[in-house]
Amino acid sequence: MASPARPRFLFFPSCRSRGVFPMIPHGVFVTGTDTGVGKTVIAAALVRAWGGVYWKPVQSGLTEDDDSATVARLANIPADRICPCLYALRAPASPHEAARREGIRIVLDRFSLPRVRSPLVVEGAGGLFVPLNEHHDMIDLMARLGVPVVLVARSGLGTLNHTLLSLMALRDRGLTVWGVVMNGPSNPDNRTTLENRGRVPVKEIPRVACVDAAAIVAFARVLTDGDERKGDGSPSGSAGP
Ligand SMILES: Nc1ncnc2c1ncn2[C@@H]1O[C@H](COP(=O)(O)OP(=O)(O)OP(=O)(O)O)[C@@H](O)[C@H]1O
Ligand SMILES: [Mg+2]
Repeated sequence: MASPARPRFLFFPSCRSRGVFPMIPHGVFVTGTDTGVGKTVIAAALVRAWGGVYWKPVQSGLTEDDDSATVARLANIPADRICPCLYALRAPASPHEAARREGIRIVLDRFSLPRVRSPLVVEGAGGLFVPLNEHHDMIDLMARLGVPVVLVARSGLGTLNHTLLSLMALRDRGLTVWGVVMNGPSNPDNRTTLENRGRVPVKEIPRVACVDAAAIVAFARVLTDGDERKGDGSPSGSAGP
């Protein structure tokens, strides 16, 4: 009898140091297991931690949300550390649908990484398989940009399935997963399961009563805890507050 196919998870690269994110080369793509999972908050914390630059290439729902403005406020950074959206769409819908309503088609070939000197923190829209057009999804944009991925996940019930599926899809496309951020009430069991089954470093960001600039500074410390590049909020390479 033929032996069953080995699960893909066996091929995940193991993380060398549990709970410690590796250094980033020049940027990350922050995606999530879902919409509203905390991508913008985590992106703001990473920008703060690395003195980075933020880019939301596709923003839909501009009538209700503007992630670039939220990051500028939360990370307390000037406008020149925010790259303009390539597609800024009004409708609170999937990008492909929001674009269709404005008579626009999102074209994958138009995306390229902005040239910036500080680490670039790119935020996606929704999760991996949110459509950009009739052929391409958000994961195609991640593959095109080619930077390591930060996967933001909920911490509680249901996260194991969503997070392991997302990790499998990312690895299947050959994308490097830089780390998972569990956002919400601490859940050590889920964290351990994700580290072991997902073969990925995991950090936990607590639920707070008020997400403000002070909370982002605290989150930035958690995300860089144990890493060589510590957060001080200043642009990369410069010292000071
Ligand atoms: N750790 C936290 N503690 C308390 N509230 C949080 C936390 N993380 C996120 N939130 C809140 O949850 C909501 C959704 O977070 P956020 O906007 O970061 O999600 P998102 O994944 O970027 O959503 P979208 O898919 O719309 O871009 C926001 O109101 C945010 O302030
Ligand atoms: Mg967001």
